Amino acid sequence: MKLHIINGPNLNLLGKREPKIYGKKNFKSYFTELQFKHRKLELSYFQSNSEADLITEIQDAKADGIIINAAAYTHTSIAIADAIAAIDIPVIEVHISNIHAREEFRKKSFISPVAKGCIFGFGLQSYELAIQSFLNQENV
Ligand code: DQA
Repeated sequence: MKLHIINGPNLNLLGKREPKIYGKKNFKSYFTELQFKHRKLELSYFQSNSEADLITEIQDAKADGIIINAAAYTHTSIAIADAIAAIDIPVIEVHISNIHAREEFRKKSFISPVAKGCIFGFGLQSYELAIQSFLNQENV
């Protein structure tokens, strides 16, 4: 199974960025752990700070599933939501923090209505839980 992780703006700064909210680990080392743990999966990873590049990545994705953390674009981007709605690949929305326990503007997600499911608030483990949901789905 091929799973593609797409991270949006400022997630390249994980580890340095607001560690009280997002933790102290950078995503590259977390991704290496995921690859080691899930050696039977084909895991790939893309990060961009650009909305246009994220949309192109969604449109061109060749995977059995996408795990997306659109970061701040979650709360603003109808264009990313439209790209997700346009493809046939199931997409799981993840967030490191619990977006409903933070500022009011983070409670709105344009991604949730077009996602297969949403996982947030579990730190980096949110990505692992999304992988597990794809794995479990295979057995349903
Ligand atoms: C985030 C939550 C967003 O509100 C924020 O803009 C981010 C990270 C998260 O993973 O908790 O950049 O998507």
